Amino acid sequence: MICESACGKVILFGEHAVVYGRPALAVPLANLRARASIAARSERGILLRARDVGREYLLSEAAEEDALALITRLTLDLLGEHGNLEIAVESDIPVASGFGSGAAISVAIARALAAYFGEPLTGAQLAALAYETEKLHHGTPSGIDNTVIAFEQAVRFVRGKEITPFHIACPFPLVIANTGIPSLTKITVGEVRRAWENDRARYEGIFDRIGMIVEKAQEALAQGDNAQLGELMRRNQRELTAMGVSSPEIERLIDAATRAGAAGGKLSGGGRGGNVIVYPGNADPDRIRDALSDAGAASVIGTTVGAETP
Ligand code: PMV
Repeated sequence: MICESACGKVILFGEHAVVYGRPALAVPLANLRARASIAARSERGILLRARDVGREYLLSEAAEEDALALITRLTLDLLGEHGNLEIAVESDIPVASGFGSGAAISVAIARALAAYFGEPLTGAQLAALAYETEKLHHGTPSGIDNTVIAFEQAVRFVRGKEITPFHIACPFPLVIANTGIPSLTKITVGEVRRAWENDRARYEGIFDRIGMIVEKAQEALAQGDNAQLGELMRRNQRELTAMGVSSPEIERLIDAATRAGAAGGKLSGGGRGGNVIVYPGNADPDRIRDALSDAGAASVIGTTVGAETP
């Protein structure tokens, strides 16, 4: 049996403004992973097993818009292979949380198939394959999830123009808390679009300021000047609040972390609900985690950004 995995991702700086051509920074979450295993099957056909949701079905009977089926077909086509296989997937990555769970499952399957047939795929090939399944979920995906996840690298992203790895000189702890409120990125993106249409000058100003925060953050990370991260997160969060995508729950979690000594925090992803990321700075990450749980976070995850893959 062959088993491969892929990481999740989180946006550090620049969400929403990235839709309007400004840069964003996203990083892999090495300790949140999706896994795929491949084994030969004595019966004919390819059996897909999604362990987390207890579903199993034959590839030949899968719906057109089934993501597991699509990535399997595309990868086998690219490899020029076929066979009687059982493909099982499972994931630690919460779904619909802005962590890239869909892209991670796709990359894990593509990697596992490639390993099974002894024909490793490049990061670019994996990213391109996963992008096709992202289209099923998001219509016009920005390309950030599949890229960060396929390369398992911190990525600077400018929509339609640039997807480049960026350097993190000193790994740093990050605490991620879920508000427990599901939020569809599509909806907040639509709301920001309408607000921008009503007052372009104001929104362009917000996006420009976020763009500058992203440049500063990238420079600080490259130089190992992590002491700036808290302040930059606070500034980015102020702009997101001005944009109208924060919420009382998000503010409550950020306040709780700040009161527990964190250097700064912000929402990550589409906003309104979803996740908050917190840079502990000199504070003990465990203390921040406890404070976030006490303040009502549905779940709290600690990770190290910029560390080697486990
Ligand atoms: O919620 P996520 O992690 O998929 O991020 C959404 C980021 C936005 O900038 C709000 C939208 C986008 O397509 O970039």
